[in-house]
Amino acid sequence: MTLIRSEMVGFGHCLPTKVVTNDDLAKIVETSDEWIRTRTGIVSRHISDGETTGDLSFNAAQMALKTAGMTAEDLDMIIVATVTPDNTSPSVAAKISGRLGTKSGTICTDISAACSGFIYALTMADNMIRLGQIKTALVIGAETLSKIVDWTDRNTCVLFGDGAGAVVIRAKEGQGTSADTGILATKLYADGSHYESLVVLGGVSTTQTSGFVTMDGKEVFKYAVNALSQAAENVMEIAGVTKDDVDWILPHQANIRIIEGVGKKLDLPEEKVIVSVDHHGNTSAASIPLALSENYAAGRLKKGDLVVLTAMGAGFTWGGALVRI
Ligand code: UT7
Repeated sequence: MTLIRSEMVGFGHCLPTKVVTNDDLAKIVETSDEWIRTRTGIVSRHISDGETTGDLSFNAAQMALKTAGMTAEDLDMIIVATVTPDNTSPSVAAKISGRLGTKSGTICTDISAACSGFIYALTMADNMIRLGQIKTALVIGAETLSKIVDWTDRNTCVLFGDGAGAVVIRAKEGQGTSADTGILATKLYADGSHYESLVVLGGVSTTQTSGFVTMDGKEVFKYAVNALSQAAENVMEIAGVTKDDVDWILPHQANIRIIEGVGKKLDLPEEKVIVSVDHHGNTSAASIPLALSENYAAGRLKKGDLVVLTAMGAGFTWGGALVRI
């Protein structure tokens, strides 16, 4: 039985040029390279030196369109996952649409689901494609978390980084089997009872400021390994594949110990687990599309590879996607 799939045809990313090492951070808060490396796996991160979420998104979008061999005219939808938009309103997506010069009528919206934002955005765009409402979507995850980090708080400021990743997805007829290319399964979850566990303390209707990230690190850590594994297992089950069929797992990049924990729980060999937290830090909604694009550009991820994407973050929200590139 044929059915419509969303095929990933373009990948792009952009990182701010400024790199901040753990030793740089040790000059501003009481920390050390050793503590950060062993507790998180992070060695360095890119930090905005004026680039906005919109700037990073725009560059990532241009690269994604180029690798797709498309122009802005081809886009029916732009969806940006972010918690650090350029303006409270309108959306970053609308800004990108204007800068790219899309046709009038291209749908634009942002989505707020923190570190799982890209999986949420990808799922929504995929559903619109499969319903036949659109044919081509640009899905971006982008953040300038450095703007909502308290640079005097060592508990949080060492963890985060800035960046953007983008994919272009396009309708393609598939056979309805796991041999199809494109997005084969998605699954989203949330549990709002954990709202306070990871929260940016500020907002338009409360403080009229954007606020700073605060987190119960241990609670998030404990939840993350199970949530990331659950989402990964469920998308494999929905698509009828096993861990042995999977070429790569790309979990949200927050902490190497969480990533390794997921690999172990799913019994996947280390070589199949994509890691970029060492040089990106936690870039929230950007982490998965950034790593996707970087690995695709490096030739590590190839056409035909079966990849599990899984993310978890504030809300709590979490979700997974199974994609054959
Ligand atoms: O994107 C999704 C959301 N984020 C996450 O997934 C993050 C989840 N959580 C984590 O990754 C980890 O919980 C952290 C990396 C945040 C913390 O690691 P931990 O092993 O849970 O450390 P801890 O909170 O137990 O802190 C241990 C000690 C504390 O000192 P005391 O109270 O034992 O004396 C902290 O004050 O480490 C101290 N500490 C630091 N020391 C040096 C906390 N931050 C730092 C630091 N440098 N930057």
